[in-house]
Amino acid sequence: MTQIAGNTDAPDMGRRQFLNLITFGTVTGVALGALYPYISYFVPKSASGAGGGVAAKDKLGNDVVASEFLASHQPGDRVLVQGLKGDPTYLIITDDKQIADYGLNAVCTHLGCVVPWNAAENKFICPCHGSQYNSEGKVVRGPAPLSLALVRTEVRNDKVLLSTWEDTDFRTGEAPWWV
Ligand code: FES
Repeated sequence: MTQIAGNTDAPDMGRRQFLNLITFGTVTGVALGALYPYISYFVPKSASGAGGGVAAKDKLGNDVVASEFLASHQPGDRVLVQGLKGDPTYLIITDDKQIADYGLNAVCTHLGCVVPWNAAENKFICPCHGSQYNSEGKVVRGPAPLSLALVRTEVRNDKVLLSTWEDTDFRTGEAPWWV
């Protein structure tokens, strides 16, 4: 009698394997779910093919074509385009006639005037209250309290893609104030 009752209570192999399978699936699912944020953090967003960045646009709202842009400007030029969120943004032509890997948001950090580039002075000089920024957009005279915001630039498929500069501000060695 005891042996029969024991056999009845004990799960047979098929049931045990089925339970193991469910347990394994549940644990695996929970583990993968928990790991997802970490995995997705390390997979670059551009790996999806969508790419990061917003195309810089000219004053007519057309995408800037990098090769045409470089052909029509000189080394040292700072040229206004429409940048992130439509902000006026300077693209910079380097001495070796490339588009620099950073651009400058042209909005003055004092009260928001668009700051023109003054090639003769090699500075950005704000017409509103006289703030000045050097050729890299670092503030050198107030009342502006901060340097012009940096923007990350990248040329891809002959387009100039802009994204937020999140690294250390190379002009000050400090964390970016605009992030
Ligand atoms: Fe540029 Fe005041 S807005 S100095």
